[in-house]
Amino acid sequence: MNNVIKGAACALLLSACATVEPEGPKATAVVRPASGSQVHGEARFTQIGSRVRVNAEIAGLSPGLHGFHIHDKGDCSAADGMSTGGHFNPLSKKHGAPTMPDRHAGDLGNLTADEYGKATLALMVDGISVSKGTDGVVGRAVIVHANADDLKTDPTGNAGGRFGCGVIE
Ligand code: CU
Ligand code: ZN
Repeated sequence: MNNVIKGAACALLLSACATVEPEGPKATAVVRPASGSQVHGEARFTQIGSRVRVNAEIAGLSPGLHGFHIHDKGDCSAADGMSTGGHFNPLSKKHGAPTMPDRHAGDLGNLTADEYGKATLALMVDGISVSKGTDGVVGRAVIVHANADDLKTDPTGNAGGRFGCGVIE
């Protein structure tokens, strides 16, 4: 009963409930294997106010951490994923963690794969938009890496090879 009342209050008082911000444009990347890996899955981007919600479900990983970034070019044609260029970085910042104010806009941190090689990510980030603008991610690519992103080594996070690639559209 309490939850029902709370829900009604949120519906009436939108400004009091940040979680009820309307959803804007969405984009999706279908992630396919690169560098001879089995990595595959999907990443979705949803504009919510000035921020973007990132949801990803990726499989075929080794258990543990795997760097996860938006790279500059939406071109997965190279077998090793190198055709996507470097991390999306419209403001010429240094590499970092998604929680840091100073970072590449494309720095999404790490996926954490379980013992079955599956990873699920839900993250709110700023510094990007679901558009084709200068901070826009549409037409760029997501990359899943072989190794963990250390969240500090510039410009790559030392995350190793590119094991999954998907164009954001
Ligand atoms: Cu990367
Ligand atoms: Zn970076």
